[in-house]
Amino acid sequence: MVPRSRIAPPPVLPRHVAIIMDGNGRWALAGGKARLAGHRAGVRAARTVVRGCLEAGVDVLTLFAFSSENWQRPADEVNGLMRLFVEVLQREIDELHANGIQLRLIGAREHLPEILRRRIAAAETRTAANTGMTLVLAVAYGGRWDLVQATRRLAAKARTGDLAPEDIDETVLGRHLALAGLPAPDLLVRTGGERRISNFLLWDLAYTELCFTDVLWPAFGADDLAAALEFFRSRQRRFGRTDEQVEVVAD
Ligand code: FPP
Repeated sequence: MVPRSRIAPPPVLPRHVAIIMDGNGRWALAGGKARLAGHRAGVRAARTVVRGCLEAGVDVLTLFAFSSENWQRPADEVNGLMRLFVEVLQREIDELHANGIQLRLIGAREHLPEILRRRIAAAETRTAANTGMTLVLAVAYGGRWDLVQATRRLAAKARTGDLAPEDIDETVLGRHLALAGLPAPDLLVRTGGERRISNFLLWDLAYTELCFTDVLWPAFGADDLAAALEFFRSRQRRFGRTDEQVEVVAD
């Protein structure tokens, strides 16, 4: 007989929601607008989702705002996005702070314009003691970059004798990844119709429930967030166990 592990019932609410916000360009094109107008509309959708997650009681929201690969876009669009990030941080930081949100950036920040780096550092410092929701912005982020930067830091510690190679395990590696200290995402939402991870949180998404929607990001609203949270509720999470082993303990 297979021993049945009594595990807790699936949580009704994801603690950590991660989102690949795709479709800004297509949304703009469909409305005869410039791509940057799509990104501006994307910021409005991000606002709606931050508010929705806060109200729902989500602990961590991670938004993929700019990938390692996005540097290859036309210079005009990259520069426009960088200016938009600076503007958004300036405009939204008071309200984020007032709502007890802690802001954190993950990504190769050394590649970002100086002004943006300064704004990010100021926002992180200002909101560091907040204990409400954590809002993680992934900017100049790639899952492979994340694994490489963690590996470099581990190798540096090994070289100086601060870490023995045989002591490196999943927990130690996890402590060197960008999301260190935060729970792994329970739910990933990708808008815009593609069904791939696109070098997002490669390590952290190992057991994440994946929710794909054709809705273009600027059109993603409170109802779409509610549908994604409902999708999560409908999933039974097994973490590698068989159905038989998973005995849902109702309380
Ligand atoms: C994808 O649309 C979106 C991005 C490249 C990132 C920009 C996202 C925002 C400006 C929204 C939120 C911003 C913040 C700061 C929270 P796409 O251009 O890839 O769309 P496409 O696939 O239709 O071309």
